[in-house]
Amino acid sequence: MKKQIVIFTLLLISGIFVYAQKFEGLAETPPKLAETPPMGWNSWNYFECDGINENVIMEIADAMVENGMKDAGYEYVVIDDCWQVGRENDGTIIVDKEKFPNGIKALAGYVHSKGLKFGIYSDAGTATCQGRPGSRGYEFQDARTYAEWGVDYLKYDWCNTTNQNAQASYTIMRDALYQAGRPMVFSICEWGESKPWTWAQDVGHLWRTTTDIQDCWDCEVNWGGLGWIKILDKQDGLEEYAGPGHWNDPDMLEVGNGGLTTIEGRAHFSLWCMLAAPLMAGNDIRNMTDETKAILTNPQAIAINQDELGKQGFRVLKFDNIDVWVKPLSNNEFAVCFLNRCDEPYELNFDWGKFYVVDKTERWKGIPLNENFNITHVWDNKAMGNTKEVLNHKLKGHDVLFVKLSK
Ligand code: GLA
Repeated sequence: MKKQIVIFTLLLISGIFVYAQKFEGLAETPPKLAETPPMGWNSWNYFECDGINENVIMEIADAMVENGMKDAGYEYVVIDDCWQVGRENDGTIIVDKEKFPNGIKALAGYVHSKGLKFGIYSDAGTATCQGRPGSRGYEFQDARTYAEWGVDYLKYDWCNTTNQNAQASYTIMRDALYQAGRPMVFSICEWGESKPWTWAQDVGHLWRTTTDIQDCWDCEVNWGGLGWIKILDKQDGLEEYAGPGHWNDPDMLEVGNGGLTTIEGRAHFSLWCMLAAPLMAGNDIRNMTDETKAILTNPQAIAINQDELGKQGFRVLKFDNIDVWVKPLSNNEFAVCFLNRCDEPYELNFDWGKFYVVDKTERWKGIPLNENFNITHVWDNKAMGNTKEVLNHKLKGHDVLFVKLSK
Protein backbone atom coordinates (compact mmCIF):
# COMPACT_ATOMS: atom_id res chain seq x y z
CA MET A 1 0.00 0.00 0.00
CA LYS A 2 2.81 2.34 1.05
CA LYS A 3 4.57 1.61 -2.25
CA GLN A 4 1.41 2.42 -4.22
CA ILE A 5 1.03 5.74 -2.39
CA VAL A 6 4.64 6.63 -3.19
CA ILE A 7 4.16 5.75 -6.87
CA PHE A 8 0.91 7.68 -7.01
CA THR A 9 2.53 10.73 -5.40
CA LEU A 10 5.46 10.55 -7.82
CA LEU A 11 3.11 10.33 -10.80
CA LEU A 12 1.11 13.28 -9.49
CA ILE A 13 4.22 15.42 -9.01
CA SER A 14 5.59 14.59 -12.46
CA GLY A 15 2.15 15.26 -13.96
CA ILE A 16 2.04 18.69 -12.36
CA PHE A 17 5.60 19.32 -13.58
CA VAL A 18 4.75 18.41 -17.19
CA TYR A 19 1.58 20.49 -17.03
CA ALA A 20 3.48 23.46 -15.61
CA GLN A 21 6.14 23.14 -18.28
CA LYS A 22 3.58 23.03 -21.06
CA PHE A 23 2.00 26.25 -19.96
CA GLU A 24 5.16 27.95 -18.85
CA GLY A 25 5.29 31.27 -20.62
CA LEU A 26 1.71 30.94 -21.85
CA ALA A 27 0.87 33.97 -23.92
CA GLU A 28 4.36 35.30 -23.46
CA THR A 29 6.50 33.58 -26.02
CA PRO A 30 5.27 32.94 -29.55
CA PRO A 31 6.01 29.46 -30.89
CA LYS A 32 9.42 28.99 -32.52
CA LEU A 33 8.77 29.78 -36.15
CA ALA A 34 10.55 31.77 -38.82
CA GLU A 35 14.01 30.80 -37.62
CA THR A 36 15.18 32.11 -40.98
CA PRO A 37 13.37 34.96 -42.78
CA PRO A 38 9.96 33.76 -44.02
CA MET A 39 9.68 33.19 -47.77
CA GLY A 40 6.48 33.18 -49.76
CA TRP A 41 4.11 35.24 -51.85
CA ASN A 42 1.53 37.89 -50.94
CA SER A 43 -1.32 39.12 -53.12
CA TRP A 44 -1.18 42.84 -52.34
CA ASN A 45 1.56 44.40 -54.47
CA TYR A 46 0.18 43.06 -57.74
CA PHE A 47 -3.46 42.04 -57.23
CA GLU A 48 -4.42 44.65 -54.60
CA CYS A 49 -8.06 44.48 -53.53
CA ASP A 50 -10.00 43.67 -56.66
CA GLY A 51 -7.69 41.12 -58.27
CA ILE A 52 -7.94 38.30 -55.75
CA ASN A 53 -10.21 35.25 -55.83
CA GLU A 54 -9.83 31.57 -55.09
CA ASN A 55 -8.83 30.63 -58.63
CA VAL A 56 -6.02 33.15 -58.61
CA ILE A 57 -4.75 31.88 -55.27
CA MET A 58 -4.92 28.25 -56.39
CA GLU A 59 -3.10 29.09 -59.63
CA ILE A 60 -0.45 30.93 -57.63
CA ALA A 61 0.07 27.84 -55.47
CA ASP A 62 0.30 25.68 -58.62
CA ALA A 63 2.78 28.11 -60.17
CA MET A 64 4.92 28.19 -57.05
CA VAL A 65 5.37 24.44 -57.31
CA GLU A 66 5.83 24.32 -61.08
CA ASN A 67 8.14 27.27 -61.62
CA GLY A 68 10.78 26.23 -59.10
CA MET A 69 9.92 28.77 -56.40
CA LYS A 70 8.86 26.10 -53.93
CA ASP A 71 12.13 24.25 -54.48
CA ALA A 72 13.98 27.54 -54.04
CA GLY A 73 12.44 27.89 -50.55
CA TYR A 74 9.20 29.85 -51.03
CA GLU A 75 6.60 28.44 -48.69
CA TYR A 76 3.76 30.76 -47.66
CA VAL A 77 0.89 31.79 -49.96
CA VAL A 78 -0.70 34.80 -48.26
CA ILE A 79 -3.98 36.50 -49.17
CA ASP A 80 -3.84 40.16 -48.23
CA ASP A 81 -6.77 42.55 -47.74
CA CYS A 82 -10.28 42.10 -49.22
CA TRP A 83 -11.20 38.45 -48.62
CA GLN A 84 -13.67 39.43 -45.87
CA VAL A 85 -16.98 41.30 -46.19
CA GLY A 86 -18.76 41.40 -42.82
CA ARG A 87 -19.62 39.61 -39.59
CA GLU A 88 -22.47 37.33 -38.60
CA ASN A 89 -24.58 38.34 -35.61
CA ASP A 90 -22.42 36.12 -33.42
CA GLY A 91 -19.30 37.88 -34.64
CA THR A 92 -18.05 35.20 -37.02
CA ILE A 93 -16.14 36.76 -39.89
CA ILE A 94 -17.89 36.45 -43.27
CA VAL A 95 -15.83 35.53 -46.33
CA ASP A 96 -16.60 37.12 -49.72
CA LYS A 97 -18.60 34.25 -51.22
CA GLU A 98 -18.38 35.62 -54.74
CA LYS A 99 -14.62 35.57 -54.75
CA PHE A 100 -14.12 32.56 -52.51
CA PRO A 101 -17.20 30.37 -53.15
CA ASN A 102 -15.64 27.32 -51.52
CA GLY A 103 -14.53 29.22 -48.44
CA ILE A 104 -11.12 29.77 -46.97
CA LYS A 105 -10.78 26.38 -45.30
CA ALA A 106 -11.01 24.59 -48.66
CA LEU A 107 -8.52 27.04 -50.15
CA ALA A 108 -6.08 26.51 -47.28
CA GLY A 109 -6.51 22.77 -47.82
CA TYR A 110 -5.64 23.18 -51.50
CA VAL A 111 -2.51 25.17 -50.68
CA HIS A 112 -1.51 22.54 -48.11
CA SER A 113 -2.06 19.77 -50.65
CA LYS A 114 0.71 21.39 -52.71
CA GLY A 115 3.11 21.11 -49.79
CA LEU A 116 2.86 24.86 -49.12
CA LYS A 117 1.59 26.93 -46.20
CA PHE A 118 -1.32 29.31 -46.15
CA GLY A 119 -1.59 32.85 -44.84
CA ILE A 120 -4.26 35.45 -44.37
CA TYR A 121 -4.62 39.13 -43.44
CA SER A 122 -6.48 41.17 -40.86
CA ASP A 123 -6.14 44.45 -39.02
CA ALA A 124 -5.75 45.45 -35.37
CA GLY A 125 -8.34 48.22 -35.76
CA THR A 126 -12.05 48.34 -36.40
CA ALA A 127 -11.60 48.09 -40.17
CA THR A 128 -8.83 47.07 -42.56
CA CYS A 129 -7.10 49.58 -44.82
CA GLN A 130 -9.67 48.76 -47.52
CA GLY A 131 -12.57 49.22 -45.13
CA ARG A 132 -13.25 45.52 -44.51
CA PRO A 133 -14.00 44.32 -40.95
CA GLY A 134 -10.96 44.53 -38.66
CA SER A 135 -10.31 42.23 -35.71
CA ARG A 136 -10.60 44.82 -32.94
CA GLY A 137 -12.77 43.19 -30.24
CA TYR A 138 -12.88 39.88 -32.14
CA GLU A 139 -9.27 38.84 -31.75
CA PHE A 140 -9.86 35.53 -29.95
CA GLN A 141 -12.80 34.60 -32.14
CA ASP A 142 -10.91 35.39 -35.34
CA ALA A 143 -7.81 33.53 -34.18
CA ARG A 144 -9.93 30.44 -33.49
CA THR A 145 -11.50 30.74 -36.94
CA TYR A 146 -8.08 31.00 -38.59
CA ALA A 147 -6.83 27.97 -36.65
CA GLU A 148 -9.91 26.01 -37.68
CA TRP A 149 -9.33 26.97 -41.31
CA GLY A 150 -5.71 25.80 -41.17
CA VAL A 151 -4.05 29.21 -41.41
CA ASP A 152 -0.26 29.19 -40.93
CA TYR A 153 0.54 32.92 -41.20
CA LEU A 154 -1.28 36.10 -40.23
CA LYS A 155 -0.38 39.55 -41.52
CA TYR A 156 -1.93 42.05 -39.14
CA ASP A 157 -2.31 45.64 -40.30
CA TRP A 158 -2.69 48.96 -38.48
CA CYS A 159 -5.44 50.99 -40.19
CA ASN A 160 -8.37 52.47 -38.21
CA THR A 161 -6.69 52.12 -34.84
CA THR A 162 -7.27 55.61 -33.41
CA ASN A 163 -6.07 55.80 -29.81
CA GLN A 164 -4.97 52.16 -29.74
CA ASN A 165 -1.59 51.29 -28.33
CA ALA A 166 0.38 49.25 -30.86
CA GLN A 167 2.24 47.01 -28.44
CA ALA A 168 -0.94 46.21 -26.49
CA SER A 169 -3.00 45.62 -29.63
CA TYR A 170 -0.48 43.28 -31.23
CA THR A 171 0.06 41.46 -27.93
CA ILE A 172 -3.66 40.69 -27.72
CA MET A 173 -3.59 39.06 -31.13
CA ARG A 174 -0.39 37.20 -30.34
CA ASP A 175 -2.08 35.74 -27.25
CA ALA A 176 -5.21 34.94 -29.25
CA LEU A 177 -3.17 33.07 -31.87
CA TYR A 178 -1.27 31.25 -29.18
CA GLN A 179 -4.45 30.18 -27.43
CA ALA A 180 -6.05 29.09 -30.70
CA GLY A 181 -3.42 26.39 -30.57
CA ARG A 182 -2.16 26.37 -34.18
CA PRO A 183 1.35 27.65 -34.86
CA MET A 184 1.05 30.75 -37.04
CA VAL A 185 3.73 33.15 -38.16
CA PHE A 186 2.62 36.55 -36.88
CA SER A 187 3.50 39.37 -39.25
CA ILE A 188 3.15 42.79 -37.67
CA CYS A 189 2.30 45.48 -40.22
CA GLU A 190 2.40 48.67 -38.21
CA TRP A 191 4.66 50.57 -40.63
CA GLY A 192 7.35 51.28 -38.03
CA GLU A 193 5.42 54.10 -36.38
CA SER A 194 5.96 52.99 -32.77
CA LYS A 195 9.39 51.51 -33.52
CA PRO A 196 8.17 47.91 -33.22
CA TRP A 197 11.78 46.68 -33.39
CA THR A 198 12.08 47.93 -29.79
CA TRP A 199 9.11 45.91 -28.47
CA ALA A 200 8.02 43.26 -30.93
CA GLN A 201 10.69 40.58 -30.54
CA ASP A 202 8.45 38.49 -28.29
CA VAL A 203 5.23 39.56 -29.98
CA GLY A 204 5.65 38.76 -33.67
CA HIS A 205 8.03 36.98 -36.00
CA LEU A 206 8.45 39.98 -38.30
CA TRP A 207 7.45 43.60 -38.23
CA ARG A 208 7.21 46.18 -40.98
CA THR A 209 9.69 48.98 -40.45
CA THR A 210 8.26 51.51 -42.90
CA THR A 211 5.41 52.72 -45.03
CA ASP A 212 4.37 50.70 -48.12
CA ILE A 213 6.91 49.92 -50.81
CA GLN A 214 6.15 51.18 -54.32
CA ASP A 215 7.05 49.61 -57.66
CA CYS A 216 9.80 52.09 -58.51
CA TRP A 217 13.44 52.88 -57.78
CA ASP A 218 13.10 56.03 -55.63
CA CYS A 219 9.64 57.54 -56.15
CA GLU A 220 7.53 58.94 -53.35
CA VAL A 221 3.73 59.04 -53.60
CA ASN A 222 1.60 61.69 -51.93
CA TRP A 223 0.25 59.40 -49.16
CA GLY A 224 3.78 58.34 -48.25
CA GLY A 225 4.54 55.16 -50.22
CA LEU A 226 8.22 54.90 -51.19
CA GLY A 227 10.42 53.36 -53.86
CA TRP A 228 12.65 50.54 -52.65
CA ILE A 229 15.88 52.56 -52.41
CA LYS A 230 14.18 54.96 -49.97
CA ILE A 231 12.89 52.00 -47.95
CA LEU A 232 16.43 50.56 -47.97
CA ASP A 233 17.88 53.73 -46.46
CA LYS A 234 15.54 53.37 -43.49
CA GLN A 235 16.84 49.89 -42.61
CA ASP A 236 20.43 50.80 -41.81
CA GLY A 237 20.80 50.93 -38.03
CA LEU A 238 18.00 48.43 -37.33
CA GLU A 239 20.26 45.40 -37.74
CA GLU A 240 20.76 44.79 -34.04
CA TYR A 241 17.04 44.07 -33.60
CA ALA A 242 16.78 41.24 -36.12
CA GLY A 243 17.61 37.60 -35.60
CA PRO A 244 16.19 34.08 -35.77
CA GLY A 245 12.44 34.23 -35.10
CA HIS A 246 12.18 38.03 -35.23
CA TRP A 247 12.91 40.00 -38.38
CA ASN A 248 12.74 43.57 -39.57
CA ASP A 249 10.40 43.63 -42.57
CA PRO A 250 11.17 46.27 -45.21
CA ASP A 251 8.01 45.15 -47.06
CA MET A 252 7.22 42.75 -49.85
CA LEU A 253 9.15 42.45 -53.09
CA GLU A 254 8.33 44.50 -56.19
CA VAL A 255 10.52 42.34 -58.46
CA GLY A 256 8.66 41.56 -61.68
CA ASN A 257 5.88 44.12 -61.29
CA GLY A 258 6.98 46.26 -64.23
CA GLY A 259 8.24 49.44 -62.54
CA LEU A 260 11.85 48.35 -62.21
CA THR A 261 14.36 47.40 -64.88
CA THR A 262 15.86 43.91 -64.61
CA ILE A 263 19.00 45.49 -63.16
CA GLU A 264 17.00 47.42 -60.56
CA GLY A 265 14.94 44.35 -59.68
CA ARG A 266 18.09 42.31 -59.17
CA ALA A 267 19.56 45.09 -57.01
CA HIS A 268 16.33 45.24 -54.95
CA PHE A 269 16.41 41.46 -54.42
CA SER A 270 20.14 41.53 -53.57
CA LEU A 271 19.64 44.14 -50.90
CA TRP A 272 16.63 42.32 -49.43
CA CYS A 273 18.87 39.24 -49.19
CA MET A 274 21.54 41.34 -47.49
CA LEU A 275 18.96 42.66 -45.01
CA ALA A 276 17.81 39.16 -44.00
CA ALA A 277 14.42 40.51 -45.03
CA PRO A 278 11.39 38.27 -45.39
CA LEU A 279 11.25 37.33 -49.09
CA MET A 280 7.58 37.68 -49.99
CA ALA A 281 7.25 37.83 -53.76
CA GLY A 282 4.65 40.41 -54.75
CA ASN A 283 4.28 39.79 -58.49
CA ASP A 284 2.07 37.58 -60.64
CA ILE A 285 4.21 34.47 -60.42
CA ARG A 286 1.91 32.66 -62.89
CA ASN A 287 3.22 34.84 -65.71
CA MET A 288 6.73 36.06 -65.21
CA THR A 289 9.66 36.58 -67.48
CA ASP A 290 12.68 34.31 -67.32
CA GLU A 291 14.66 37.25 -65.94
CA THR A 292 12.22 37.73 -63.05
CA LYS A 293 12.17 34.01 -62.30
CA ALA A 294 15.96 33.90 -62.34
CA ILE A 295 16.09 36.75 -59.83
CA LEU A 296 13.51 35.30 -57.46
CA THR A 297 15.02 31.82 -57.44
CA ASN A 298 18.78 32.45 -57.47
CA PRO A 299 20.11 29.84 -55.01
CA GLN A 300 23.25 31.73 -53.96
CA ALA A 301 21.35 34.94 -53.19
CA ILE A 302 18.66 33.04 -51.28
CA ALA A 303 21.28 31.14 -49.28
CA ILE A 304 22.68 34.47 -48.10
CA ASN A 305 19.21 35.64 -47.07
CA GLN A 306 18.52 32.36 -45.30
CA ASP A 307 21.92 32.01 -43.63
CA GLU A 308 21.37 30.38 -40.26
CA LEU A 309 23.35 33.00 -38.34
CA GLY A 310 20.41 35.31 -39.03
CA LYS A 311 22.40 38.55 -39.15
CA GLN A 312 20.92 41.55 -40.91
CA GLY A 313 23.39 43.31 -43.18
CA PHE A 314 24.32 46.97 -42.71
CA ARG A 315 25.99 49.74 -44.65
CA VAL A 316 29.67 50.09 -43.81
CA LEU A 317 30.89 52.48 -46.48
CA LYS A 318 29.59 55.19 -48.75
CA PHE A 319 31.77 56.82 -51.39
CA ASP A 320 30.91 58.64 -54.60
CA ASN A 321 27.45 57.18 -55.27
CA ILE A 322 28.39 53.73 -54.04
CA ASP A 323 27.03 52.01 -50.95
CA VAL A 324 28.87 49.04 -49.50
CA TRP A 325 26.75 46.71 -47.40
CA VAL A 326 28.09 43.77 -45.40
CA LYS A 327 26.27 40.76 -43.96
CA PRO A 328 28.19 38.41 -41.68
CA LEU A 329 27.39 34.77 -42.46
CA SER A 330 27.90 31.51 -40.62
CA ASN A 331 31.25 29.68 -41.01
CA ASN A 332 33.15 32.96 -40.89
CA GLU A 333 31.93 33.97 -44.35
CA PHE A 334 30.66 37.38 -45.42
CA ALA A 335 28.35 38.72 -48.09
CA VAL A 336 29.27 42.12 -49.52
CA CYS A 337 27.06 44.16 -51.81
CA PHE A 338 28.23 47.24 -53.75
CA LEU A 339 25.29 49.33 -54.93
CA ASN A 340 25.61 52.00 -57.59
CA ARG A 341 22.92 54.52 -56.64
CA CYS A 342 23.68 56.66 -59.65
CA ASP A 343 22.13 56.44 -63.16
CA GLU A 344 25.63 56.48 -64.68
CA PRO A 345 28.01 53.51 -64.83
CA TYR A 346 30.82 53.43 -62.27
CA GLU A 347 34.31 51.97 -62.51
CA LEU A 348 34.79 50.20 -59.17
CA ASN A 349 38.41 49.71 -58.09
CA PHE A 350 37.97 48.52 -54.57
CA ASP A 351 40.91 48.00 -52.26
CA TRP A 352 39.69 45.76 -49.45
CA GLY A 353 42.01 47.61 -47.11
CA LYS A 354 39.39 50.37 -47.17
CA PHE A 355 37.47 48.34 -44.62
CA TYR A 356 40.28 48.91 -42.12
CA VAL A 357 39.46 52.57 -41.86
CA VAL A 358 35.79 51.97 -41.20
CA ASP A 359 34.82 52.88 -37.69
CA LYS A 360 34.75 49.57 -35.86
CA THR A 361 31.78 49.79 -33.57
CA GLU A 362 29.89 47.09 -31.77
CA ARG A 363 27.93 46.27 -34.89
CA TRP A 364 30.93 46.11 -37.10
CA LYS A 365 33.91 44.12 -35.89
CA GLY A 366 35.30 44.02 -39.38
CA ILE A 367 36.21 41.30 -41.79
CA PRO A 368 39.51 39.68 -40.69
CA LEU A 369 41.32 40.80 -43.83
CA ASN A 370 44.69 39.69 -42.57
CA GLU A 371 43.33 36.34 -43.73
CA ASN A 372 42.78 35.96 -47.45
CA PHE A 373 39.20 35.46 -48.64
CA ASN A 374 38.13 34.08 -51.98
CA ILE A 375 35.50 36.15 -53.74
CA THR A 376 32.51 34.57 -55.48
CA HIS A 377 30.12 36.51 -57.69
CA VAL A 378 26.75 35.66 -56.13
CA TRP A 379 24.48 35.98 -59.18
CA ASP A 380 26.74 34.03 -61.54
CA ASN A 381 28.36 31.78 -58.93
CA LYS A 382 31.78 32.50 -60.48
CA ALA A 383 35.14 33.01 -58.79
CA MET A 384 36.36 36.64 -58.82
CA GLY A 385 39.84 36.50 -57.27
CA ASN A 386 40.60 37.23 -53.64
CA THR A 387 40.75 40.03 -51.09
CA LYS A 388 44.51 40.55 -51.44
CA GLU A 389 43.83 42.03 -54.86
CA VAL A 390 42.03 45.21 -55.82
CA LEU A 391 38.52 44.37 -57.01
CA ASN A 392 37.90 45.83 -60.45
CA HIS A 393 34.38 45.82 -61.78
CA LYS A 394 32.30 48.05 -64.00
CA LEU A 395 28.94 48.68 -62.36
CA LYS A 396 26.06 49.76 -64.55
CA GLY A 397 23.73 52.50 -63.31
CA HIS A 398 21.56 51.22 -60.42
CA ASP A 399 23.37 47.88 -60.52
CA VAL A 400 24.94 45.87 -57.74
CA LEU A 401 28.04 43.80 -57.43
CA PHE A 402 26.97 41.12 -54.96
CA VAL A 403 29.77 38.89 -53.72
CA LYS A 404 30.49 36.31 -51.07
CA LEU A 405 33.81 36.08 -49.23
CA SER A 406 34.87 32.67 -48.07
CA LYS A 407 38.04 30.76 -47.24
C1 GLA B 1 -1.58 48.58 -45.84
C2 GLA B 1 -0.40 47.62 -45.77
C3 GLA B 1 -0.20 46.99 -47.13
C4 GLA B 1 -1.45 46.26 -47.56
C5 GLA B 1 -2.65 47.20 -47.54
C6 GLA B 1 -3.95 46.46 -47.74
O1 GLA B 1 -1.31 49.67 -46.66
O2 GLA B 1 0.75 48.29 -45.35
O3 GLA B 1 0.92 46.11 -47.11
O4 GLA B 1 -1.66 45.17 -46.68
O5 GLA B 1 -2.74 47.89 -46.31
O6 GLA B 1 -5.06 47.28 -47.64
